[in-house]
Amino acid sequence: MSLVNINFVYVISAALFIFGLKMLSSPATARRGNLLSALGMLLAIVVTLLASGLSYGWIFLGMAIGTGIGLFAALKVEMTEMPEMVALFNGFGGISSLLLAWGEYHQKPEMSVFIAIVAFLSAFIGGVTFTGSMVAFGKLSGKISQKAVVFKGQHLINAAILIVAVGAAALFSLNPASGWGYIFFMLIVLVALGFGVTSTLPIGGADMPVVISLLNSYSGLAACAAGFVISNNILIVAGALVGASGMILTNIMCKAMNRSLANVLFSGFGSTVQAEGGDGPQGEIRPATAEDVYYILEAADSVAFVPGYGLAVAQAQHVTRELGDLLEANGTEVLYAIHPVAGRMPGHMNVLLAEANVPYDQLVEMDEINPRMDSVDVCVVIGANDVVNPAAIDDESSPIYGMPIIETFNAKTVIVLKRSMNPGFAGIQNALFFRPNTRMYFGDAKASIQALVAEFKGGD
Ligand code: TAP
Repeated sequence: MSLVNINFVYVISAALFIFGLKMLSSPATARRGNLLSALGMLLAIVVTLLASGLSYGWIFLGMAIGTGIGLFAALKVEMTEMPEMVALFNGFGGISSLLLAWGEYHQKPEMSVFIAIVAFLSAFIGGVTFTGSMVAFGKLSGKISQKAVVFKGQHLINAAILIVAVGAAALFSLNPASGWGYIFFMLIVLVALGFGVTSTLPIGGADMPVVISLLNSYSGLAACAAGFVISNNILIVAGALVGASGMILTNIMCKAMNRSLANVLFSGFGSTVQAEGGDGPQGEIRPATAEDVYYILEAADSVAFVPGYGLAVAQAQHVTRELGDLLEANGTEVLYAIHPVAGRMPGHMNVLLAEANVPYDQLVEMDEINPRMDSVDVCVVIGANDVVNPAAIDDESSPIYGMPIIETFNAKTVIVLKRSMNPGFAGIQNALFFRPNTRMYFGDAKASIQALVAEFKGGD
């Protein structure tokens, strides 16, 4: 196939990637968007394989092994293990870029300064992505300590590593074909692999979703650089798209937590226990039984569920949907208000509620529900804590001050489902629990909602 025709198909692939990405922005079109992008990738792979001079034996062997492992992993993985799987995939993307740059350099060491620089970027970013992703995978899956591993002089060591990498890159780019060029290249690879570990270990397990999104972006940038190394246009475009969208997602997450990226990467959040659960706002709480909550819900015209990390822990999504259906059958308007960083990974609540087939038109985002919150009769907070903490609005001394929250306290009645008065991720007490319009319904979220479902069914 001629280069012109190959590039023509690449343009179609690139358009499919872009439309697919656009469609990922709504749960209603996300599946089709994913398929569209996959089709774009299939086209790109097929035309790339039509280029001349390829060793098909090796390529098909690699594809067969990769497809087998990928298929097995995709079928076996639990919804809740998705972040670990994404971490692994990012890591594999990173190591591919590293190997690609290395292979190209090995074959053609006489390279221009520009190609040498992009080969360095591909190898370095790819290496950091690989080991960083492996550490992220280890932390998320509990194979290594989730704690932020911090020690004195850590930032200095990381800065020194970076200086060595830039120095080696400069010397490598000046004369890549010399014997020293090879030594500098290997030094870059080693430093990158080490830096991935030393820069990810200091980040606490709970911040891993942000790190994974960032590493996803790195894997795209590494692929983009690799595309320049081998002059492959679709690799450049796809890498740039992954790089940019990963950066945007990272930024969205940081904004939703009201933390800077530097704070996530360097503060060691999670290395020390934050404020004790007993500190902060105190007061009288109003506990409620299943029967109390049933009567409140039964009389409500509108109910907004606000799910959080506890919904995922309790795996209460299916029973929540069942309660939602019963409320609708009772003539109540039912909504599910989603905070962008509720849970522990991007889209965590969307994934869980989609698993329970909650209709998309019942999902409302934070910015949509907040202005109309005072018209909501009952907000049912299911295992959410930080994302509904009014301290984010009215307590300047709070570590979450400035974080946008779902303003449940403006609803007529708030029912909070959790097991105890323990704090959530940020380690701080929640003044919402002591507000006069709040009732605390203690217990495991799934069992608590099952009890409400039983009340509704018994009341028929
Ligand atoms: P959290 O503030 O972590 O609160 C979760 C609450 O769920 C806890 O207070 C816990 O209270 C309760 N819970 C746990 N297991 C439960 C169960 N089985 N049944 C009932 N309740 C249960 O969660 P959130 O409100 O979703 O906020 C998310 C936090 O994670 C934010 O601070 C956010 O910045 C952070 N974060 C999010 C992300 C992403 S991308 N989503 C990434 C990094 C960090 P009990 O122990 O008393 O039950």
